[in-house]
Formats: sequence, structure tokens, C-alpha cells
Amino acid sequence: MSTAISSPSSSPKRKILVTCALPYANGSIHLGHLLEHIQTDIWVRFQRMRGHETYFVCADDAHGTPIMLKAQELGISPEEMINAVRDEHIADFADFHISFDNYHSTHCEENEALASDIYNKLHAKGHIKTRTISQLFDPEKEMFLPDRFIKGTCPKCKAEDQNGDSCDDCGATYSPTEVLNPRSVVSGATPILKDSEHYFFDLPAFEGMLKDWIHSGALQEEMANKLSEWFEQGLKQWDISRDAPYFGFEIPNAPGKFFYVWLDAPIGYMGSFKNLCNKNPQIDFDSFWKENSDAELYHFIGKDIIYFHSLFWPAVLEGAGYRKPTSVYAHGFVTVNGAKMSKSKGTFIKGRTYLDHLNPEYLRYYYAAKLTNRIDDLDLNLEDFAQRVNSDLVGKVVNIASRCASFITKRFDGMLSTNIDDQALADEVMNAGDSIAAHYESRDFGRGMREIMALADKVNEYIAIKEPWQLVKDESKQQEVQDICSLGINMFRTLMIYLKPVLPVLADSTATFLNDELVWEGHKTLLTGHKINKFKALLQRVDMDKVNAMTDASKENLAPSSTATSADKKTKKASKKAKTVDNSVALANPLAADPLSEEIQFDDFAKIDLRIAKIINAEHVEKADKLLKLTLSLNDDDSETRQVFAGIKSAYQPEDLIGKHTVMVANLAARKMRFGMSEGMVLAAGPGGEDLWILNPDDGAKAGMRVK
Ligand code: MSP
Ligand code: ZN
Repeated sequence: MSTAISSPSSSPKRKILVTCALPYANGSIHLGHLLEHIQTDIWVRFQRMRGHETYFVCADDAHGTPIMLKAQELGISPEEMINAVRDEHIADFADFHISFDNYHSTHCEENEALASDIYNKLHAKGHIKTRTISQLFDPEKEMFLPDRFIKGTCPKCKAEDQNGDSCDDCGATYSPTEVLNPRSVVSGATPILKDSEHYFFDLPAFEGMLKDWIHSGALQEEMANKLSEWFEQGLKQWDISRDAPYFGFEIPNAPGKFFYVWLDAPIGYMGSFKNLCNKNPQIDFDSFWKENSDAELYHFIGKDIIYFHSLFWPAVLEGAGYRKPTSVYAHGFVTVNGAKMSKSKGTFIKGRTYLDHLNPEYLRYYYAAKLTNRIDDLDLNLEDFAQRVNSDLVGKVVNIASRCASFITKRFDGMLSTNIDDQALADEVMNAGDSIAAHYESRDFGRGMREIMALADKVNEYIAIKEPWQLVKDESKQQEVQDICSLGINMFRTLMIYLKPVLPVLADSTATFLNDELVWEGHKTLLTGHKINKFKALLQRVDMDKVNAMTDASKENLAPSSTATSADKKTKKASKKAKTVDNSVALANPLAADPLSEEIQFDDFAKIDLRIAKIINAEHVEKADKLLKLTLSLNDDDSETRQVFAGIKSAYQPEDLIGKHTVMVANLAARKMRFGMSEGMVLAAGPGGEDLWILNPDDGAKAGMRVK
């Protein structure tokens, strides 16, 4: 796509429809989903700011076997469940300031009508084939089983309890009918093979069209490469039907057959837009979806669902006589602290848990600062997150306003000067607009943010050199003070115009402070002889304690709250207390262990080198409230020692520990802590506070003995 759009006045008004992938209606929104919604929202807000007619729609993806079974498990109807989940999703997105024009559901009239119509058109053109296939069937539950609902023994390595399509042990992939001793995850029954007629969409018929489409330059390079690989493997017919019982739409003229969820899910983009048009008759559905439409259509998605969006979806649209997407933009996956989001580490963070502790604009900025237009994964490192937000937003941008505002309000009655103290600086900041716009347009947000922060650095340098706080002491320099601070305030305004797509709420409070609306075109002008309001603190620093409270609370998301017994609750309480202990202590108390922590294999356990160690020194650590510094000896002549910082100060006086034995993890990678290197962990038991014991397995034990 062209990115050289210099200004809305010189480029014609575009009509743009944008979507995010539709979240499944059986789980909460987490920080992974939010990467996509924040990325898309920033792009949409940017387009709106530039004056283009832009619509942003999404919906919950409500159909399919997992959703049907989850509702059964909860003892409610699927409709009840999807409605409740949709309400929750809408509230979560609203609180992250995702500015949808409509948030619908795939289980709706509009979508049913569109899915049937599209199917009928495909059928009429001969793009639907039928064929009988044999599949595993649960005779007790009387339903066909998707691969992930079958478990059994791996046909290759004979490992037990493997998935229906792949083995975690040897990595083999296979067909569910090859699994040995298969059983249904739903009922435990042994599945039988059963024949059924299925409906297929004739994808191979669209190969030529798809090849042209990917070479039209509309797709990211990595995506085009991926597609070429798939072409080499050969396109296959796509099974679009599922047998009853299934929660979805029945296929026209095919009683007992339902559309596979992935057939009506992307049509849900149209369904949600149709619903928006029904509510706002001035928006014309057809002008966005008809063949050769001059409107632009973009789908923002994650890398896991490229196949559906770049092969099936354009082919279905083409086959049914609609336009194809202008582009499909894929992003990578969010990892937290360098690893896949994990429930036991507290890094599987729900949107709501985040909101309970932190300002959503911190996350919006952090994601923006790290996003590229490529399909790379994005690591949310929580320390870096706090530091980046504090240094960029608080330390650079808002700092400009807080350094200048009070002089203007106190000394000059809130009036900005009519002089421009440093025209070159003003020009540099104002002229960056086109380049920053190009970065937004091409979704290279990280670059845009870097450019904005480099400008903020220059403005701060200017203020630091001019030192208005010194000049103000000299009565003859008052005009200079007003000029310098007025330029500072103006530069802050321009930077906030640039940041408005990312930080809509901070931009709103800035607008109130400056009596100015912060429209995009405003970056070309300065406010002179203009009255501003009293400055109030605009943004708090990120508090690492709150970040930690958020990960602690995410660990608790695990406790099955609805079914928690009093024993569960006790465990939960104990584990909460124990967690306040520094993490250099591994908790050996079964009560304190996370009841649903991630399972490890024996091999993982065998890697842990647990040893009896003698505490040869223990001392307080200056300025640390929880830590003691231990020197642990692993052998009789104390020639092999480890230094460990352990969060056990609440329970022990250092002198009481010297000479005692404890159990330690001797092969833990050393970790740099604020007070020095920590080269292992000691095991502790107890709920925490004073009730914390580092094990004393046998006072007569020999140091270095391996723990059995
Ligand atoms: N329901 C389908 C999409 C249908 S679109 C017609 C689906 N739902 S999902 O809830 O599993 O995922 C929704 C979106 O969130 C997808 O684009 C997916 O890639 C994205 N993400 C889910 N987990 C993610 C991360 N950890 N990181 C980044 N994006 C992630 O797929
Ligand atoms: Zn195997």
C-alpha cells in the first residue's frame, strides 16, 4: 500500500473498513488479544484523525464444538454463555479505549442470512462438492469428535495419553484414526469409525486468482512467502460442514449439517458491519463489499490464522461475487518476560486483571513502542515496560509540560507568548508530521514512537539549556521566561497531537489543559497569545509494586473459584502469603504450592540438582527488607560455595543460621539482583512471615549429599 499520504487536504478522503479477528466466546480477553486490538485501534484512530471515513468492527466468534461443550459443562445454554462472555469482552475493550464502531456476535440474524446467501452462491457456481468421509465418533455422546477431543497412545513411540493429532513425546503428527487405544475426552468412551457425508469448498479452483492476489503487492512480504509455500504443497478442498449436534448455523437444504465455525466466522466481519449499517442507514453496506468497491478493507489478525484469512476467505469472497480484502495484516504473538504466557508464572494476564492494577494507556504505549509492521513476536518484559513508560511518557513528554506550565499560569495569567523563541526547533518538531504519519500508515509504530521521543529529547535539552527557573529570578528576563515556556508548551502540544492515536485519554486531558482540540492539522501551527488552563498532573509513573500485584493476581486466576472448597481457599490464602516471600526461595510446602501449577515431566525434575548445603555465613543486606545473604557450602572443605540472597529475613536472625544445613537448588542459573549475584535457591516451608522454615534435613548430614 502507498504510505506517502502527505495530508488529508492533499489526499482524497478514503473509505476504510477495518476489522480485528473475532475472539472466541468461551474465554476472557488477555494481553495477547489486546496486542491486536491496540494495534488496530491506533491505526483506526490515526485514519479518523486524518479525516478518512473509517469504520472499525469486530464481534465474538460464538460457534463450534468447544463452545457447545463449555456451555454444557457450565450447565447453561450456549446462547446464555455467549451473551455473558460478549458483555465481558465489550467492557474489557471499552476500558482499553478500543474505539469500535460496532461489536457484534457471529450468532446473529445478519450473519446467518449472509452465510446462507454466500453458500448458496458458491453452490450455484459449482464450488461446493460433497463426499463421504469416515471419522471417529463418540457412541455415548453420539457426536463426531474433533481431533483435539481424542486422546490415546502414540502410534509411533507408544507414549500414552497423547493428543489425537500429535505426540508431545516424540513430536510425531498423525491422523486421529491411527491413535492406539483412542478414547473420547468428552465421555471417556472408545470412539468408533463412522461414515458421514461432508460438504467441501473447492479451494483449488481459486489457485490462479489467489496467486494474482498475493502478487498484487497487498500483503506483507513474509505472508506472501508463506502463501507461496502453501501453493507448492498444493491447495486442498476445504471441509466446511459438521454434523449435529453442533452449535452453529444449519446449511441450507442439508438437514442435520452445520457450517463449520471457520466458514461463518469471517462472514461475521460482514455481519457486524451489516448490523452497523442497519443502525446507521447513511452507511452503505454494498459500497464497501461489492466487487470492484473503491472502499478499502483491512483485516488485522495474528500469525496463527493466516491460512484462513489469506486463502479461504478471499476465495470465498471471490466465489460469491464480493470484493477481496485490500490487505490482511498479521502480527506476531505476545510473550511475557521472554516466555509464552504461563498461568503458573502469573504471566497469563487477563485484560481485566491488568485494568485492576494499571492504566491501560501504559500498555497502549508500550505495545506501540515495540510494534513493527512485520510478523515478529513481541515480548512484554514487565521491568522494561515500567521503565520505558516512565522514561518516555513521564520523563520526556509530560515532563516538558510540567517544567513550563506553572511559570505561564502563575506569572503570565495562563497566556502564551506571541513570540517564537526558537523557530528552528519549532520547525523541526512541526515538520516531523509527515514522516510520523507515514510510520502510522505503514504500521511501523515503533519507529513513529522513536521519532517522537527523539523530538521530546530535543525539547527537553532546549529547556535545560535555557534554564527558565534561573531566568525567572531576574526581573528583566521575564519576557524570555514567557517565550521559552510558551515554546515548551507548544512543543508538548505538537507531540501530543502525534501521540493522540496511541494515548487518547492523555490527549483529552491535554486538550482540556491547553484549550485546544489537538486535531492532526494542528501540528502545522503554534498557539500564540492563547490562554491555557492550570496544569494538573497528567500521568502517574508506573509503580512496579502494582505490576507485581498484577502478576500475583494472575496466579490466582487459576483457582477454580466457582468450585473452590474451603480447603482450596485455605491453599489459596497460604499461597498468597507465601508469595510475598522473595522468589529466591523455592517453596517446599505442599500447602503453599500452586494447586494447578504447570505440570513438568520427570526429565525436567531430574535436571534440578538438589543438594544439602551447609550455611557457612549469613548476614543482613543493607537496605533490603526481606533478604538475607547466605554463603552455602556444598562440600566438606568448603571449596565449593554458592552465594544466595534469600527472602527469609522475617523468620531468621542470621547468626542462628550459621553452621546449620539446608536444601538448595545448586544448578540454578545465577541471577543478578540489586544487591549482587544470587547463585541458587534454598527451599523453604511455611506460609510466610515468621512461619517460614528453611529445611533442616539432618543436622549431622554431610554437605553436598544429593537429596533422594
Ligand atoms: N475466533 C478466531 C478468529 C476468527 S476471525 C474470523 C480466533 N480467536 S482467538 O480468540 O483465538 O484469537 C483472536 C485473535 O487473538 C487472533 O488474531 C489471535 O492470533 C490473537 N491472539 C491470541 N493469542 C495471542 C497472543 N498471545 N499474542 C498475540 N495475539 C494473540 O482465532
Ligand atoms: Zn510419540
